[in-house]
Amino acid sequence: MVIGADISAAMLGAARDRLPRSYRAIVTDGQALAFQDASFDAVVSQLGLMFFPDPARGLAEFRRVLRHGGCAAVCVMWGVLAETLSRHLPEQREALHFSFSLAQCPRLEAMLGAAGFREVKVTRETRYGIVESFDEYWAAIEAGAGQLPLIYLSLPEQERRAVREEVRAGLSPFEKNGRLEMSVEMLIGAGRA
Ligand SMILES: C[S@@+](CC[C@H](N)C(=O)[O-])C[C@H]1O[C@@H](n2cnc3c(N)ncnc32)[C@H](O)[C@@H]1O
Repeated sequence: MVIGADISAAMLGAARDRLPRSYRAIVTDGQALAFQDASFDAVVSQLGLMFFPDPARGLAEFRRVLRHGGCAAVCVMWGVLAETLSRHLPEQREALHFSFSLAQCPRLEAMLGAAGFREVKVTRETRYGIVESFDEYWAAIEAGAGQLPLIYLSLPEQERRAVREEVRAGLSPFEKNGRLEMSVEMLIGAGRA
């Protein structure tokens, strides 16, 4: 059985189409998971931890719900949109910049260790991806799935337009013949309970 846990019901719904029928969606805060101790064989957290106000608490929760010997794997990333939004919303700068504070191997390694994980390993990975156009990239942001898009959508229209143009300028070095050829860096951390 696969349980999808996210604070956003919309995000869990989007996952439903891509997962087996045994998938169950549970709306829950990753920092206070609505599951019993030692009830999972594995926890996979993809591009979520960097948005938790207290990522250390999130890791402690991942550890708590794992059976002895079970594994957790987390993936964290950072980017141009967080940078741009924090210029427009200085009061949310700290929340938006959690992503950057988690962007160092030793920091994530120490946090996994402090949460009680053994055999901790953190690697920096680079992935290349092609998006057919900036408009296609931006359509996903306008769709509002995920924390940064939701923060973006809370801005007045004029400011949203300014953010769009700033992000477009920030991504221009990756633009080739109208397509965006982007390389993104991420950290993959893993540990055993
Ligand atoms: C970039 S999306 C990644 C979604 C999905 N894991 C994926 O890889 O497609 C970040 C997700 O983190 C979720 N999130 C942010 N803070 C959270 C929290 N405290 N507890 C649970 N989920 C949270 C957001 O709702 C959002 O769906």
